[in-house]
Amino acid sequence: MSEHETLSESQGEPTRRDFLYLTTGMAGVVGVGSFAWPFIDQMRPDASTLALASIEVDVSSLEPGMSLTAKWRGKPVFIRNRTDKEVEEAKAVALSDLKDPVARNANVAPDAQATDLERSAGEGKENWIVMIGSCTHLGCVPLGQAGDFGGWFCPCHGSHYDTAGRIRKGPAPENLPVPTFSFVSDTVIKIG
Ligand code: FES
Repeated sequence: MSEHETLSESQGEPTRRDFLYLTTGMAGVVGVGSFAWPFIDQMRPDASTLALASIEVDVSSLEPGMSLTAKWRGKPVFIRNRTDKEVEEAKAVALSDLKDPVARNANVAPDAQATDLERSAGEGKENWIVMIGSCTHLGCVPLGQAGDFGGWFCPCHGSHYDTAGRIRKGPAPENLPVPTFSFVSDTVIKIG
């Protein structure tokens, strides 16, 4: 290696080899950029995935006392048309008797109390209850119209929910969560 080359390198001047390396490096960056965009673009949800973000469920066949389970975002959603008696029973429960006094309803304030009205579809539609069917203990799917309170019963470890889906007995810590939903007509519920 000559004295001149040694001096250039020590002063930080790019050598031909450095220049080639930098050029290649920049081309590499551009290459990654043009490859990464379509890749990221593919990760955006397409129209069909977005459609699954919400579902519409026809509940016209549900007479009082009947329920159905819909599937939404991979989870079971319980929809129950409660009888007047079931609503009255749930309304009669004192908040002080509840293990979880919070409504856990995505459609009301986060700190709303777990009254029957705040758990249900609201004024005029108190008979309807919509909840994610995943036990708040360890995620089993509770059985409907069962348990000590006539609501739901999780056989995995014995959690009892009342007719408003509130945890009343057993190891589950919270009421069954109510997802975002609305009635798009008298007989169709949109979830999500
Ligand atoms: S998962 Fe329901 S009681 Fe344990």
